Amino acid sequence: MEHALSPDKIAALARRIDRPVVLVGMMGVGKTSVGRRLAAALHLPFTDADDEIAHAAQMSIPEIFEQYGEAYFRDGERRVIARLVGQGRGVISTGGGAFANPETRALILDQAIAVWLDSEIEVLLERVKRNANRPLLKNGDLRETLTRLKAERESAYAQAPIHVKSGAGPHHRAVNTVLKGIDAWL
Ligand code: S3P
Repeated sequence: MEHALSPDKIAALARRIDRPVVLVGMMGVGKTSVGRRLAAALHLPFTDADDEIAHAAQMSIPEIFEQYGEAYFRDGERRVIARLVGQGRGVISTGGGAFANPETRALILDQAIAVWLDSEIEVLLERVKRNANRPLLKNGDLRETLTRLKAERESAYAQAPIHVKSGAGPHHRAVNTVLKGIDAWL
């Protein structure tokens, strides 16, 4: 098992973090779970951008897609992420399509520390199967849709300066790898 950073090292790293840390990557990769644990380890506030979008719209994400469509959702997503990034230090998890949007990506790259959480399709599939709440996965074959979206978005995700592979193992392992990735990059 990979060597875990000591609490002292994590505290020293937290002091060097001067911008928000933004987790990007595919649906099902664990951005919210990893983000929550990462924020707790760093003693920083955590925000889930999708929750904030739903809260701002007073509607669930599937309802926004259904009533207004994806373009409207992306616009709200961009504005919410701009507001969250503007709040300074903290950990933010984003929906899988956020960083594929050029404007949202430019904003994150300019003002935050972007971390691409990346998993194999098999791992994503297992995780998304547990939650039926994703409008883009509602129709068609789950594996095909995930594979297509991952291929379409990969060149965008790859622009994040930190790339962390997250396997099927527990999320605390990915958290440690993210901490090390930020430490090496900052
Ligand atoms: C989306 C991912 C979702 C949510 C919306 C669209 C996407 O977030 O923002 O359903 O385009 O990949 P998660 O990545 O948290 O599932």
